[in-house]
Amino acid sequence: MITDDRGELIVLPTAAAVADEAARRFADLAQAATQQRGRFTVALSGGSTPRALHQRLAQLPLRDTIDWASVHIFWGDERFVAPDNEDSSFKMARETLLDAVPIPAANIFPVPTIGGTPTSAASAYAETLIAQFGAETPRFDLILLGIGPDGHTASLFPGHPEPAAPGDQLVIPVDNAPKPPPTRISFTYKTINAAQNVLFLITGADKAKALRAILRGPLTIDQLPAQGVRLGQGSLIWLADMAAAKQINDV
Ligand code: 6PG
Repeated sequence: MITDDRGELIVLPTAAAVADEAARRFADLAQAATQQRGRFTVALSGGSTPRALHQRLAQLPLRDTIDWASVHIFWGDERFVAPDNEDSSFKMARETLLDAVPIPAANIFPVPTIGGTPTSAASAYAETLIAQFGAETPRFDLILLGIGPDGHTASLFPGHPEPAAPGDQLVIPVDNAPKPPPTRISFTYKTINAAQNVLFLITGADKAKALRAILRGPLTIDQLPAQGVRLGQGSLIWLADMAAAKQINDV
């Protein structure tokens, strides 16, 4: 385990071990938040890596260790497609997790991707965050993130406005994303970096070059947006399998 101001890197043997550890941490954080505050607020990530985590949370034994009535689900980013579209992160989460656990529908806050524009959806989602947290800056118990081979995270991509010049908004529209689909909605660094816990799940050799650059290279946030995730008081943990961490030789 390597800890520095860019967070703590924990390397596990396989992608399955990463999913196991992430599921354990999710359940532990959910239990602690529910006991302390009666609520656990979590923002899910898109992509393929979270599927294995979701499946573990949707199955025994973990499923029944979580008080799902106290869990409030959001998305750290979303593709601007209909909720039944194959590219929808909401659809993926519904199919791999939400349909399998007793979470009230009122506790699920999808990004409004139909009936408006990306800009109006981002504004509406920011209002939802402010209303749900009762604060101008939401402080999530947990935000789950991944990275792309280009160093993006959420829908913050190299050379795009937010990584180049982080703003004061909570949620922004994203267009021309290099990872399809091109139009998205994303948390900003302001929202991500206010979280109490951020957990990156990173598996596969295709992430190895980016992960080394992110954690061991010079800070170039506009080119490696995942470097912009730097928590003030919170816990930042990078869970990686050996394939993704193979270019980091001090672990
Ligand atoms: C998305 C995610 C994106 C994802 C990474 C990793 O909408 O796809 O928000 O940031 O986490 O691209 O994706 P994989 O898990 O598929 O490698």
